[in-house]
Amino acid sequence: MNVSGRPTRTIWPTADGTAVEIIDQTRLPHAFITVRLASLAAAAHAIQAMLVRGAPLIGATAAWGMWLALRTDASDAGLAHAHATLLVTRPTAVNLRWALDRVRAHVAPLAPPARAAAARALAVVLCDEDVALNRGIAAAGLPLIRALAARKPAGARVNLLTHCNAGWLCAVDVGTATAPIYAAHDAGIPIHVWVDETRPRNQGASLTAWELLNHGVPHTVIADNAGGHLMQHGEVDLVIVGTDRTTSTGDVCNKIGTYLKALAAHDNGVPFYVAAPSPSIDWTLRDGLREIPIEERTAREVSHLTGRLPDGSVATIALLPEGSPAANPAFDVTPARLVTGLITERGVCPASAAGLRTVFPAG
Ligand code: MRU
Repeated sequence: MNVSGRPTRTIWPTADGTAVEIIDQTRLPHAFITVRLASLAAAAHAIQAMLVRGAPLIGATAAWGMWLALRTDASDAGLAHAHATLLVTRPTAVNLRWALDRVRAHVAPLAPPARAAAARALAVVLCDEDVALNRGIAAAGLPLIRALAARKPAGARVNLLTHCNAGWLCAVDVGTATAPIYAAHDAGIPIHVWVDETRPRNQGASLTAWELLNHGVPHTVIADNAGGHLMQHGEVDLVIVGTDRTTSTGDVCNKIGTYLKALAAHDNGVPFYVAAPSPSIDWTLRDGLREIPIEERTAREVSHLTGRLPDGSVATIALLPEGSPAANPAFDVTPARLVTGLITERGVCPASAAGLRTVFPAG
């Protein structure tokens, strides 16, 4: 996507070939800052501290991290250490394990001196693949929005609702849930997006709003609690969210609060779709509620807020009475029965084992 008119991805190799560069997403929307990652430790820190975040981008960063690690130690032990170090950075998004396993399988049969270059080449391929998958989701999801527009009076906008950031910042480019949204906007379909702020880290308010504003997509940020009310009043035509891990049976794990939106959508007959690129599908799991590890993040994300002060400086403030504890489960699971459909790169399918098999027969 474009930032200040320049095509920009979320991660790219530096021109001098010695590192990769990322957008520090903890600084958005108040500052656009890029950071060089030149070591395994830097890549692991970027994922853990959420300089990069979002399931596909976590996977892409991990792949680049394997390259950075293998440059200094390409032995079998070095390979195992890099894989293990990156794997524990975030527990929920399955793309992390998917990318690490792919790089390890690719380089392990090679002699150690050849491993770093092979890992680098594969990281480039994985990033390009991610963009292609998201373009597939755009093509598969666009007809859903087009059909809704066709049922509206001429010129009336389609109202979409999204949660967290499943935009281009969560991926290498284009995004997952936003892929059909950008495609619809670019095709001239009048749309408007309700953006859940997504407490506690506010990825909707900070990142999705910034993206949509940059691309000129009409949108309104709402408090997380407002979605159900808007649905009751016919203000939401379609919900599209992303996923960090979807089971082989169609249960969807996504940012905390997604489940409540699915319940409200179900109660109000609003279609609830999940953009699910294949690397986000965990074919080894059948029961999302019991089997998906839910990341518990620091209580400080709940007890404090960061924002811009009137003088332009960015500051962090405390919200709670001193001494009140806070809990911070970062993801929840929406059972498949509440999901209208999965938008994959191969087409839209029911959220069920049989539905997924129609588009991924080999699993
Ligand atoms: O904690 P994050 O920001 O890494 O959470 C991931 C997400 O952005 C969302 O859950 C998103 O909807 C899925 S990523 C495609």
